[in-house]
Amino acid sequence: MDIRKKPDLTLARKRSKTPTMTIEYDQNNEIQNLGLGKKYLIQTHGCQANEADTEILRAMIEEQKFTLTDKVEEADLILINTCAVRETAENKVFGELGRLKSLKKVNPDMILVVAGCMSQEEATIERILTKYKHVDIVLGTHNIPEFIHYLHYVMTERKQMIEVISQEGSITEHLPHARDSRFKAWVNIMYGCDEFCTYCIVPYTRGKERSRRKEYILNEVKALIEKGYQEITLLGQNVNSYGLDFEEGNYDFSDLLSDLAQTGISRIRFTTSHPKDFSDSLIDVIAKYENVMPHIHLPVQSGSDTVLKKMNRKYTKEQYLDLVHRIYEKIPNASITTDIIVGFPTETEHDFLETMDLVTKARFEGAYTFVYSPRKGTPAAMYETTVSKQEAKDRLHRLNELVNEGYLKGNMRFEGQNVKVLIEGKSKTKEDVYSGYTENNKLVNVKCSDQEIGNIVLVHITKAKTWSLDGELVRS
Ligand code: SAH
Ligand code: SF4
Ligand code: F3S
Repeated sequence: MDIRKKPDLTLARKRSKTPTMTIEYDQNNEIQNLGLGKKYLIQTHGCQANEADTEILRAMIEEQKFTLTDKVEEADLILINTCAVRETAENKVFGELGRLKSLKKVNPDMILVVAGCMSQEEATIERILTKYKHVDIVLGTHNIPEFIHYLHYVMTERKQMIEVISQEGSITEHLPHARDSRFKAWVNIMYGCDEFCTYCIVPYTRGKERSRRKEYILNEVKALIEKGYQEITLLGQNVNSYGLDFEEGNYDFSDLLSDLAQTGISRIRFTTSHPKDFSDSLIDVIAKYENVMPHIHLPVQSGSDTVLKKMNRKYTKEQYLDLVHRIYEKIPNASITTDIIVGFPTETEHDFLETMDLVTKARFEGAYTFVYSPRKGTPAAMYETTVSKQEAKDRLHRLNELVNEGYLKGNMRFEGQNVKVLIEGKSKTKEDVYSGYTENNKLVNVKCSDQEIGNIVLVHITKAKTWSLDGELVRS
């Protein structure tokens, strides 16, 4: 095993004032055809940041002439793009690595790669070195652009290697993308996170908050429009702090959103917004442009001021609700969704009821809900907990029931209305039924044909259910 660099969580925590470096992607022209006649497979866990990274890795792998397979038995290269946000996410990956061990015995030439956020953790590396010695390459989130060099080294030298850099991070431009969809695209506008919510590992696995220059973003979006893309989703762990790291400091997320809206792309979405930086000018831009979608994902995490403070979220329940009301005032049609953690150390029944109260008052139309999972290296992992596993599970259950009512209410308000739907493809369950999303991000099932795939069509909503809407195509 060639161990070039191991992760270091203490180093990963550091933040300096050094400006971010922008690097041009090296095309690896000297390495060619590594995958001629070979097949590959990528498994992606975690958030959209990982999905976007997977599209880059796929492009790099396909440039080497590997072709895609969905069968692990057939694959010559298996890459697992991992997520470290909760223990359950990590257990899934270790389970998968365990299963792949026997495959490696049958096919010793198969190359197994671990990438993504778990690689950035010291504990993962130790576990791979002791229990999962069949892994061939471990790389972190900062060294994705180097992947082809690693692959070339491992294939020619027949060695295994680990290179995980713990640093604040730079930005690489002109990376290739093999996008999953022909009409929807992720567009990274920034990387990393400087919030350091006390429960969260992301600032350690993804480096400092760093914004891409607007010229690169605009050029990427213009190229997508030329290729016929209808929808972009702007990505960042906290998109509202876009541009705050620029030295000149006079161009923020609302400016970027406004410039992007004027490119004329049909739909713009963005995720994730941190409540503390959500400015009134941003609300105005969302309200002003028809192509900025009226769906805002605004993670609240908790409704208790005590818990919010311990989480280092930098707002109170009242401030959050005030923001939500300002949004509804200027964007009456808005759908707001959120993320909530239950069972944070010391969360009392009273704290939890504050969360339930906030969920009702904010009129959420959806929420991702989680039981708190301690992450080694984060401050909260050191807090003593007073919440039993059973209590946390029980709170999750009660919360989900309330959240589901919100999903249904949010869908009900579209019954009998005509809505615009971007048709994505055939529904998995029914013949002739196609599905897509409305501007408010509601899933719609509708009878139509292959011809509508990739187009925005008008649909009359006939029935609202908890998780989806049924409708009929409005013929013009
Ligand atoms: N940057 C985004 C997303 C971060 S991860 C944001 O700030 O919203 C997505 C969600 O996972 C978080 O919003 C949070 O609700 C949840 N999460 C993060 N760390 C967690 C932990 N240790 N245990 C349980 N849930 C966690
Ligand atoms: Fe994690 Fe908080 Fe950053 Fe989101 S804002 S990625 S929850 S530290
Ligand atoms: Fe997971 Fe990393 Fe995203 S920890 S949630 S894949 S940033």
